[in-house]
Amino acid sequence: MNAQTLIDTASALVAGDKGLLAMDESNATCNKRFAALGIPQTEAARRDWRELIVTAPGLGESISGAILFDETIRQRTDAGKPFAQALSDVGIVPGIKVDMGAKPLAGHPGETVTEGLDGLRERLAEYAGMGARFAKWRGVIAIADGPGAGLPTPACIDVNAHALARYAALCQEAGLVPIVEPEVLMDGGHSLARCAEVTEEVLHRTFAQLLAQGVLLEGMLLKPNMVLPGEKAATQDSVEAVADATVAGLLRAVPAAVPGVAFLSGGQSAQLASARLDAMNTRHKSRLPWALTFSFSRAVQQPALDAWKGDAANVAEAQQALVFRARCNQAARRGGYDAKRDAPR
Ligand code: 13P
Repeated sequence: MNAQTLIDTASALVAGDKGLLAMDESNATCNKRFAALGIPQTEAARRDWRELIVTAPGLGESISGAILFDETIRQRTDAGKPFAQALSDVGIVPGIKVDMGAKPLAGHPGETVTEGLDGLRERLAEYAGMGARFAKWRGVIAIADGPGAGLPTPACIDVNAHALARYAALCQEAGLVPIVEPEVLMDGGHSLARCAEVTEEVLHRTFAQLLAQGVLLEGMLLKPNMVLPGEKAATQDSVEAVADATVAGLLRAVPAAVPGVAFLSGGQSAQLASARLDAMNTRHKSRLPWALTFSFSRAVQQPALDAWKGDAANVAEAQQALVFRARCNQAARRGGYDAKRDAPR
C-alpha cells in the first residue's frame, strides 16, 4: 500500500467545491429506471445513457470523480474511447462499484448483508488496470419499528460493518481509495430522531471495524445517508432540522482524519438533496473537520433521465439538466445554493 497515493487521491476527490457522481447502478436498477420511462432495457441503451453522462459538456467543472459499474468500465464511447479514459481526459477520476449487492441475511428476516468479498483482491487488480483509482461498497441497513420488528438488529449492523472494513482494507492494499457506504434507508415511517440514533450507531460500529482492520482513515471517504425522517413519517422535518441532526451525528462518529464525507441521496428529490447539503455547509461550515459534499446518483441523474427518455434527439437537453444539477450541488457544497430559485446563487 502506498499511503501517499491513497491520501492524494482521497484529497483530490473532495478538493475545492466539487462532488462525486454515482453512475454505478447495477443492470437491474438501471433497467428498473429505464422501464419506468419506456426506455429499452438493453446493454446498448445503458451504454448510450452512460455516454450521454460521460460526454456532458462542462461536467468536470463540478464533478471530481465518477463511480462506474462493471459493465460500464468495460464499455467505450462512440469514438472508441474506454469510458474510464474519457472521464480522465476531462479531469474526472474514474472509480468502480465492487460490491455484488445486498443479499438476505440468514436468520434475520427483512435484513441484508452485502456480498462480494470472495475474489475481490483479483477484481480490484483488474479494475486498477482499467484505470479505476477508487472504489465503492454499499452496506444497507433498514429501520423497522413496531411490535415484534425492531430493525436493525446488532447482527445486521455488525456483519455489514465488518464487510465494509474488509473491503476497505483490500482496496487500500490495491492502491484504490475505498468509499465506505453504510446506507440507513429512508423507507418507512420512523422519525428523524430514530434515524439519527441508528445512523450514529452504524457509523460507530463501522469506524470501530475500520480501525480494528487497519484501514488508513486519511486514505478513504465516507458515503453516508443524511439523517432524515422516514419517507412515510407523518412529520417531515425542516431542511434546517435535517442539516443539524446530520452534522451532529457525523461530528460524534466520524474521525477528523477522514478527508471527506460525500452523501448518497437515497430517494430524496433533487431539490431537497441540494437544499439539505447547502444548509449543512451554511450553518456548520466552521465546525466541520472534513469536506461535506455529495456522491449522488438519483438526485443528479433523474431529471436528466426524465429529459432523455431514450431519444437521441433529447441528448443535449438531458446533458444540460445533468450539469445543472451537478452545479446546484457544487453550489450547495460552498453554501451557495438558492433553494427558492433552485439554482446556484
Ligand atoms: P443515490 O444517490 O441514488 O442514493 O445513489 C447513491 C449510491 O451510490 C447508492 O449506492
